[in-house]
Amino acid sequence: MSLRKIYQYPEPVLRKKANKVESFTEDLQQLIEDMADTMYDAPGIGLAAPQVGESIQLLIVDTRSDAEKREYLAVINPEIVASEGTQIDEEGCLSVPDLTANVKRFKKITLKYQDRDGNTQELTAEDRFAVVLQHEIDHLNGILFIDHLTPLKRSLYKKKMKKVMASKKVPA
Ligand code: NI
Repeated sequence: MSLRKIYQYPEPVLRKKANKVESFTEDLQQLIEDMADTMYDAPGIGLAAPQVGESIQLLIVDTRSDAEKREYLAVINPEIVASEGTQIDEEGCLSVPDLTANVKRFKKITLKYQDRDGNTQELTAEDRFAVVLQHEIDHLNGILFIDHLTPLKRSLYKKKMKKVMASKKVPA
C-alpha cells in the first residue's frame, strides 16, 4: 500500500488543465493503484490525478458504500458526450477540507473515456455516480466545486477556508 500526498486548495496544480494520457505504462498502473490506496484511506469516493500532484487526465471513482470491496473505476481522458436533466447534491472535496456545499450538476451523463489498458469505453451514469464523475472531471480542468457557487457564497467560503488553514499547524 502506497499513499500519496493529497494536494489542497490553493495549490497551483489544482488549477492547471491536466494533460491527456498518451501512453499506458507501468508507471500509470502504479499511479492508479496508489490513488486507490489514497482514496480508500482518506476516505473518499473519487480522486483525480491532479489532487495527488499529477497533472494528467486520470480519475478514479467508487461510490459504493461498502469499503470492504474495493471495486473502483479508473477513467482516463474522459469526455462528456451527452447530458440531461439537473440535480443538486451536497459535495465535498479531499482538496478543500472541512467544507461542503450544494452544487448543481447534470442528472445523467454519458462519457467516452479510455480504461487503464487504453481501450476506448463509454458509460452512462446517473444520480450520485454522475455527480462524482462531474466533480472529478472538473478537477482535470482545474475547476473546484467551490467555483460553482455564487460569488457571495464563494467569498464566504474563502474566508472560512483561510480560518481553517490558519488554525492548522503546518509542520515546517
Ligand atoms: Ni474533489
